[in-house]
Amino acid sequence: MTAKDKIIVALDVPDLATGEKLVDRLAPYVGMFKVGLEFYTSAGPAAIRMVQERGGKVFADLKLHDIPNTVAGAARALVRLGVDMLNVHAAGGRAMMQAAATAVREEAVVMGRPAPILLAVTVLTCLDGEALRQEVGIEREVEEQVVRWARLAQESGLDGVVASPREIRIIQGACGPEFIIVTPGVRPAGADLGDQRRVMTPAEALQEGASYLVIGRPITAAPNPVAAARAIGAEMAGAL
Ligand code: C5P
Repeated sequence: MTAKDKIIVALDVPDLATGEKLVDRLAPYVGMFKVGLEFYTSAGPAAIRMVQERGGKVFADLKLHDIPNTVAGAARALVRLGVDMLNVHAAGGRAMMQAAATAVREEAVVMGRPAPILLAVTVLTCLDGEALRQEVGIEREVEEQVVRWARLAQESGLDGVVASPREIRIIQGACGPEFIIVTPGVRPAGADLGDQRRVMTPAEALQEGASYLVIGRPITAAPNPVAAARAIGAEMAGAL
């Protein structure tokens, strides 16, 4: 995979027109576009089709979390929409993740296309150790819980996890180098951190072992998004 293929641009946009403008410009320079809850809730499946019509691949970041039957149905619907990557919450447990994995593989066969990459979300990075204990009721260190859920995801047949740059090493230590790690919270050197706290540069995240980087505002809010994407791609190519 080239540096370009490893860049996933987060389309955190409120409507289709705003998304279109970004995808029109960026499609030649990045590997994939992430359609998350905000964009999908406002534009629906049209958000996914809009990216595909412009030659882009899609990561449907909808973090599915429900009973196994419902998650399997939603996963199947996403495969029918032709997404290239999707995710579920590891907190949904083994049966839910297994149902998602089976649904994705079976529906891909029906569609006659390669199965999309299925990821788990472990501990949301907005939760610190105290919130995990006091509010959620999980009496474990964050990193321990992240590794526990990453292992469960792997055992359940998932391809990888979404994880902060700081967690890449411990997850790969537990799950091996083939386990895919998609990493948000990446900032080019000298960039505005926004609301991200624990960040790494794109080169650092790749050196840690990230498979893909999710990058939003450093590209989408840049005065020149194409120049920003190319600069990040060049920085990443130097680290590969
Ligand atoms: O603009 P920025 O680069 O911070 O965007 C990062 C993207 O990754 C956003 O879509 C955000 O929802 C997502 N994300 C994150 N941190 C996580 C998980 C997902 O920033 N732990």
